[in-house]
Amino acid sequence: MAEQRTLIHGQWSNRTVFILAATGSAVGLGNIWKFPYIAGENGGGTFVLVYLLCIALIGLPIMMAEIMLGRRGKQSPINTMRALSREEHRNPNWVWLGWLGVVAGILILSYYSVIAGWAISYVFRTAGGMFQGVTADGVNSIFTDLVSDPERLLAWHTVFMVMTMAVVARGVKNGIEKAVTFLMPLLFGLLIIVVIYAMTTGHFMEGVRFLFTPGPIDGKGVLIAMGHAFFTLSLGMGAIMVYGSYMKKQHSIAQASMLIALADTVVALLAGMAIFPIVFANGLEPGAGPGLIFQTLPIAFGHMQGGTLVGVLFFSLLVFAAWTSAISLIEPAVAYLVENKGMSRIHAAEWMGGITWFIGLGTVFSFNIWKDKTLTIPYLFENFTFFDSLDYLTANIMLPIGGLFIALFSVWIMREQSTRDELATHPMLYNIWRFLLRFITPVAVIVVFLKAVGAI
Ligand code: TRP
Repeated sequence: MAEQRTLIHGQWSNRTVFILAATGSAVGLGNIWKFPYIAGENGGGTFVLVYLLCIALIGLPIMMAEIMLGRRGKQSPINTMRALSREEHRNPNWVWLGWLGVVAGILILSYYSVIAGWAISYVFRTAGGMFQGVTADGVNSIFTDLVSDPERLLAWHTVFMVMTMAVVARGVKNGIEKAVTFLMPLLFGLLIIVVIYAMTTGHFMEGVRFLFTPGPIDGKGVLIAMGHAFFTLSLGMGAIMVYGSYMKKQHSIAQASMLIALADTVVALLAGMAIFPIVFANGLEPGAGPGLIFQTLPIAFGHMQGGTLVGVLFFSLLVFAAWTSAISLIEPAVAYLVENKGMSRIHAAEWMGGITWFIGLGTVFSFNIWKDKTLTIPYLFENFTFFDSLDYLTANIMLPIGGLFIALFSVWIMREQSTRDELATHPMLYNIWRFLLRFITPVAVIVVFLKAVGAI
C-alpha cells in the first residue's frame, strides 16, 4: 500500500478536467511554432516519422509512468521522488531527478515566454490590419523588425511572465479548468480553417508530401525528433507528474495518456499541413527557423476572407495555448516552495517568476544585441546563440535524460506490485508498458544519444 499522504494543492474536479489540463500543458508553442520549423530544418518526412515513433514507443509509456509516479507521490516532483524512494526502500539520491526537472522547467520557460511574447505582439499586428494583402517580403521585414528590437521583446516577455504567474499564484486548478474547456476546441477549429485556406493555395499536396515523404536524416536530426517528442508531450521534467499528483485514484492512467498524446499529435500535424503549403506557395524556405510561423501564417490571414478576424483569434488562442503550457513548466518549482519553504503560492510564484524572467533576458538579446555571441559544444552543436543553445540543451538533452531516469525508476527500482496497483490497468497492457519501459525506451534513448554524437 502507498503511504497516506495529504494533498495540499487540491485535486482536479473530475477525469475530463485532468485530461484537459494535461492536454493544455502538452499543446502549446511546441506543436504550432516549434514542430513545423524543426521539421522544416530537418528535411520533413523522415523527421516526422521518427517523431511519431518516439511519441508511441518512448513518449506514451513515459507519460504513463510520470502520471503514475505523481499520483502515488501526491506532491511536487522533488518530494514525490523523495517519498517514493523512501517507500520503496531505495537510494534517496533519486530526489535529484526532481531537481533536474525543476531546473529544466525554469530554463524552458525562460525562452518559451519570449516566444509567447512574439505571439502576443502578433495579435495586435493582425488586429491593426498590418497584414492585409501582405507579400512574403512584407511579413519577413515585419518579423525582423520585431525581433531586432530588444525593448519590444522584453516588454512582451514581461507581459507573458506576469500572466503566467497570475494563474500559478491562484493555484493551477482555479481558472484553467474552465478556460481550457472551450478554448482548446476553438483553437482546433481555427487550425482547421487555416488548413482549408492552405488547400486553396494550389500547393497543398506539396506541403503534405514534404511532411510525409521519407528523405535523408542524420543522427542529430533523430535526436531533435526524439527531444521534441518529450518537449511536445511535456515529459521528462515533472510537469505531467505534478499534474498527475492532483489526479484522483479511480481514473485510468493509460486511457488518459493515449487521449492526451493523440490530441497533441493531431494538433502538430494540422499545424504542419497549414504551414507548409503556404511556404511552398510563396517560395519561402522550409528551413527558415524559429520565425517560420510568423513569416507564413500572416500571409494566409492577409489574403483570406475575414482574415483579420481569423488571424486575431488564431494568435490569441496560440497565446492561450502557450499560457496553459507555461503554467505547467513552473508548477513543480512553485509546488516545492509551498511544500518545503512554507511560502504562500503568491510568494512562491513571484520568486520563481522573477528568476525565470531574468534568465529570459538572454533569449531576448540573442535575437539582436547578442546575435553574434555564440556557443559551440563539441559533438553537439556549433555557433549556437544563447536561445539556440538553451533550447537544444533543455529539449534534446535534459528532457530525454529526465525521461530515461523516470523510466528506469518506474520499472527497475519500484516494486512491480506498486506500479501494478497504481496503474490498475488490463494485465496485458501493463505487461506491454513494463516491457517497453524496461527494454525498449532506455535502449532507444541511449542509442539516439550515441548516434547524435557520432559514437555509433
Ligand atoms: N508541451 C508544451 C509545448 O509543446 C511545452 C511544455 C509545457 C513542456 N510543459 C512542459 C515541455 C514540460 C517540456 C516539459 O509547447
